[in-house]
Amino acid sequence: MSDVIKLPVSKGFGETDRTDKWWAQPLWMGSALTLAMIYTFLRLIFFDGAIHYDNHRVTSPIFSPDIIHLWGLSVPGWANSAMLILWIPFGFRGTCYYMRKVYYRTFFASPTACVVSKPHLVKSMGYRGERGLFVLNNIHRYMLYLAMIILLMKYYDIFHTISFDQNDGTTSFGISVGTFVLAAESFLLTMYVGSCHAFRHIIGGGTNKWRKGFSRLQGKFFWRISSINVHHGFWFWTSLAMVFIGDLFVWGVAEGILSDPSIVF
Ligand code: FES
Repeated sequence: MSDVIKLPVSKGFGETDRTDKWWAQPLWMGSALTLAMIYTFLRLIFFDGAIHYDNHRVTSPIFSPDIIHLWGLSVPGWANSAMLILWIPFGFRGTCYYMRKVYYRTFFASPTACVVSKPHLVKSMGYRGERGLFVLNNIHRYMLYLAMIILLMKYYDIFHTISFDQNDGTTSFGISVGTFVLAAESFLLTMYVGSCHAFRHIIGGGTNKWRKGFSRLQGKFFWRISSINVHHGFWFWTSLAMVFIGDLFVWGVAEGILSDPSIVF
């Protein structure tokens, strides 16, 4: 008979009878999220001078959609588009069901991990999870609607990368590495949004009989989305990583450190 871990587990942060490296995944996830937040903060506040190149042909994913340029907004010199729009992807990701699991575990240690005791501090503070401050996470479905608008604007940005301004004032069409970088970012973001639990519910989760007519179509979509929904965590991390890879690429080209090979027709 296999060994059985008796409940309740011993008390005190990290106390457990588990012998595996249960702390490894929360550690690298917490480190990655912290790094992402620090990078974004520094880029927005101190290093926002090179967010596009070729006269806005290619724009960094962090600053896209560049609504200040697109809509000709009049803003103070220190402001940039990311400051105006990042609350949408931040709110969308921050209320994501998968993301909640990550930061509840990594930053609040509640739960710390399966069969691993919580810190005493969390208990003494009366942490109430989604019955307390985190009840706000229920706005996720509304953040989804806004994220879908941002996603559409990202596709506009890809389209924009194929339009090359010429010296004589005309425009030619072509393709460059920047096009593929933005396309990869938009694809991963599409998979992340498309595998969202709230999106799956909108498509077909509200009904449990998909027998005929439109409901039959809903059922087909529902099962298709369900098949990518099981990999939602993968799409979360890859789409997030691509935002920063894309930003570094655009930043590098804008600063003249990297080149953006292109074919113009
Ligand atoms: Fe993760 Fe909706 S559940 S984006």
